[in-house]
Amino acid sequence: MNKLLIIGNWKCNPTTLAKAKQLFNSVKKGIKKIKNIEVVICPPFVYLSVLAASAKGYGGLRFGSQDCFWEDKGSFTGEISPAMLKDTGCEYVIIGHSERRKYQKETDEMINNKIKAALKAGLKVILCIEKIIQIKKDLKNIKKEQLKNLIIAYEPIFAIGTGKPCAVEKAKKMRNVIGNILKINPVLYGGSVNSQNANDYIEKAGFQGLLIGSASLNPKEFLAIVKNISKN
Ligand code: PGA
Repeated sequence: MNKLLIIGNWKCNPTTLAKAKQLFNSVKKGIKKIKNIEVVICPPFVYLSVLAASAKGYGGLRFGSQDCFWEDKGSFTGEISPAMLKDTGCEYVIIGHSERRKYQKETDEMINNKIKAALKAGLKVILCIEKIIQIKKDLKNIKKEQLKNLIIAYEPIFAIGTGKPCAVEKAKKMRNVIGNILKINPVLYGGSVNSQNANDYIEKAGFQGLLIGSASLNPKEFLAIVKNISKN
């Protein structure tokens, strides 16, 4: 069986590099002995290359980006391309997070283009969805054989950043549709995950990992989640 995946999505936090280094170092130290889980940290772009360089040669942590553009280079002010991410040491990229769909008005067509570009560049894509219909739209014209580097994160919007996690039974139904009927695996759960509820999504609902927002900013809580999950 593949390793369980724990993704820490720092979102637009913390506000200084010094704090980012501190948070990263606490996590790095804490996961030293964890072997059966792949822990991926997704910091803001500006910290990514610094943290990735400081972790070079350190096998325990992986890096992901919270977004990417759909072209590799060119006149696209402000954008970061999949090629640049690969070069900084990123292995993963989160695409289609509900906050980007809402605040940056990302459409399924934009998300589809980003997924295609990221997969082409050899990144592992974590596609965030709330509804099954989004999977169909976001993966339009992408061949089944190209999906081996695709991970779906089921993230019900009501649960994101609210402290109101999705009922495990409800989440399990979505996991089964995505994993067993659509046959896309791994499937992650995200939305108000904490050290108390994390294991239920793995053990009871059968998710192959978790996408963690708020709790990933608290090293004690984040490490408690990783340690609980590692007992599976
Ligand atoms: P949360 O965020 O853990 O703070 O609910 C999850 C996410 O947005 O990926």
